[in-house]
Amino acid sequence: MKNKKQKPEEIKKTANAWRFSGNEVKYVTEVLNSGFGSSTSGNMNQRFEAAFSKRFGTKFAVTSNSGTSTLHQALMAFGVGPGDEVIVPALTVVMCGYAVIHAGAKPVFADVDPDTFLIDPKDIERKITKNTKAIMPVHLYGLVCDMDAIMKIAKKHNLYVLEDCAQCFLGTDHKGRIGGAIGHVGSFSLENSKHLSTGDGGILTTNEEILAERMRKFGGMGFKNIKAMNGQVRKNKDTFQDPKYLRHDTFGFNYRLPEVAAAVGLAQVEKINFLVKKRQQISAKYLKALKDCSWIIPQKTPKGYVNSYYTFAARFEGEKIGVDWYEFRKKFMELGGDGIYAAWQLVYNEPIMRLIDEKGQFFQDLPNQAKHFKGYLKGVSCPVAEKLQPKIMQFTANQGIETDMNKQMNALKNAIKFFEKQYAEKNK
Ligand SMILES: Cc1ncc(COP(=O)(O)O)c(C=O)c1O
Repeated sequence: MKNKKQKPEEIKKTANAWRFSGNEVKYVTEVLNSGFGSSTSGNMNQRFEAAFSKRFGTKFAVTSNSGTSTLHQALMAFGVGPGDEVIVPALTVVMCGYAVIHAGAKPVFADVDPDTFLIDPKDIERKITKNTKAIMPVHLYGLVCDMDAIMKIAKKHNLYVLEDCAQCFLGTDHKGRIGGAIGHVGSFSLENSKHLSTGDGGILTTNEEILAERMRKFGGMGFKNIKAMNGQVRKNKDTFQDPKYLRHDTFGFNYRLPEVAAAVGLAQVEKINFLVKKRQQISAKYLKALKDCSWIIPQKTPKGYVNSYYTFAARFEGEKIGVDWYEFRKKFMELGGDGIYAAWQLVYNEPIMRLIDEKGQFFQDLPNQAKHFKGYLKGVSCPVAEKLQPKIMQFTANQGIETDMNKQMNALKNAIKFFEKQYAEKNK
């Protein structure tokens, strides 16, 4: 029998592959060809960090394995611990609350603005107590919070500010300041839906050397020779192999980003402008489709701000013409739209956050682990967020080509037209 040469298996690309069409494969191959140096001895993490901090204009960047780990690292670097309170918006992902609890502290929920959907500085001020240690503004859907007001409050009360930029890459405020470079620390997620992605991952930005060093050490198991700029721990072979060598002088977790992921991150940051522009391009089309619609109100981008549009978020007020959220989503999809995401439930309404509050438990079947948190939601109330959450619609913004973008825009336009016609006919 002839030994037929096998054809290499064809690797199919999905519609989302356009996001990874730069130097990703080249840099991953570099890592593999170098014998898979870990992030403690390789150099991809450092190269990624250098490129990221340069683009965001901060002195330091520290890679991590997720945008939840980064929040935890930052809070620990601030010295947040049991007895402390951290102010977070009610409308965000549950991980913002988790990170505070990871640090042993209590999340205190502030209400949001009904138009920008972002944390309301006036409510932050109302929620401050003698135990408040930090504020966590979350730049939701790609829009930077009112950082002028937040930094003023922080200064007045001597608080740390941790900007959660998981959904905001290169969003800027009216002064042209980039989200993540305004507060004490910026925290970014590199999970697969984000502007930049390494599959899963995270990165922190700061201008303060002491914070950079603490964050890196805490996420690197507390190896004593970790520095603000450098996570390499195996510096000198004789020292590292010495039985008398003492390695750890700081408590920590293992939150390191693998070198292959950092390689993807480096390639992604090289084309960050392109990746952000794509989301802004489709969002401009959604805005156009909504120009004359009085019952789907886009997230308000204040004058002078640049929204980086993780998703295109809007407040749905279909009751004005007798159409509900689900009906609209169904029609949008029938007309070629690829789906509409709701906002997550408010953090304090998630069942786990209630379980911690009511029974002091982290698991349904394990008592006592969290008994010191019992009652931590006492008096919680964020009426604007409660009213807003069920109305939010997030339209996807990760289309790579203009035809796909136009398909979404037309589905939106036509769904609006359909329901307006129906309403006009009913009210003839
Ligand atoms: C606002 C916000 N904060 C934090 C996170 C947590 O990031 P990760 O999923 O990388 O842990 C996310 C991502 O889902 C997010 O959207």
